Amino acid sequence: MNEISSAAKALVAGKLVAFPTETVYGLGANAESESAVARVYKTKGRPADHPLIVHIASQDQMTNWASTVPEYAIALAEAYWPGPMTLILERSKLANDFVTGNQNSVGLRVPNHPVALELLKAFTELGGKGIAAPSANRFGKVSPTTAKAVSDELGEFMEPGDMILDGGFSEVGIESTIIDCRGDAPKILRPGSITIEMIEKATNLSLDETESTLRVSGALDNHYSPKAQVLLDQPPLIGDGFIAMANVETPEGAIRLASPQTLDEFARVLYQSLRDADSQLLTRVVVWQPIGNGLAIAIRDRLRRASNKG
Ligand code: TXA
Ligand code: MG
Repeated sequence: MNEISSAAKALVAGKLVAFPTETVYGLGANAESESAVARVYKTKGRPADHPLIVHIASQDQMTNWASTVPEYAIALAEAYWPGPMTLILERSKLANDFVTGNQNSVGLRVPNHPVALELLKAFTELGGKGIAAPSANRFGKVSPTTAKAVSDELGEFMEPGDMILDGGFSEVGIESTIIDCRGDAPKILRPGSITIEMIEKATNLSLDETESTLRVSGALDNHYSPKAQVLLDQPPLIGDGFIAMANVETPEGAIRLASPQTLDEFARVLYQSLRDADSQLLTRVVVWQPIGNGLAIAIRDRLRRASNKG
């Protein structure tokens, strides 16, 4: 029996399975099992009122979990699923309080990674309806983009029968764009690599830009933090880690952790570079933020939170 079918069986049996997605690794549980989902919260050390994203195998499974799906949400799903986008919709009865953190909505995503898609397919064939999965890190910490980062982060909290699937490096590197699809127009709750322009193009609508009152854990001010202190847009001191676009020279005495050539590469290497700072026992990392729109907005969002120790 191959590893993916064992993992699907483990999920059905109420075990946890960490799996790769194109954004970051997720810590998965059967979204219908209250006890399995409770273990996700415990393993992450995450407060129970923070909702989880339900990962589904394909767009036609949306209506299992959502009671109403506006036309523009269908347009988004058609344009960008499988992909790095989570849609928030009115929930159906299947989406219990223990998955939604008592909210009346549910977050849904079809991830675009061959291992995740195979796992979802095998799980569906066994009767499963969705895999609830937050990023596979301890609460507030940097999301993992490799299987090794997952085992470093959560290995000690996992139990016999739990599994970690290795699918290589997560290509996108930062978490999915979260879009609230319950109003007349889509509203971004967490920026990601599905950009404002992409959303407006697929829906022919302008984004709703009013302030959101929804609880999104990634929106807490102190999040995505390595042990090292993250400082933005300032000259590094001798011995500081340093991350900037490749065209920026390394200031004297700084320890270069990444030199991305493009925004895509910046997002892809960011979290691993922050982890590298910790494994090199650096106490400070200076990051020069990328400028511009599109993906740069999402990168700056994560950096701002990573730098906020408050
Ligand atoms: O790329 C991703 O989205 C990754 C991979 C594993 O899919 N997952 C991820 O999960 O980042 P997590 O739990 O670390 O962040 C999901 C965010 C949380 O901030 C949560 O509050 C929000 O999604 N969320 C989930 N369901 C929601 C809902 N019904 N209403 C509002 N926010 C929701
Ligand atoms: Mg997370």
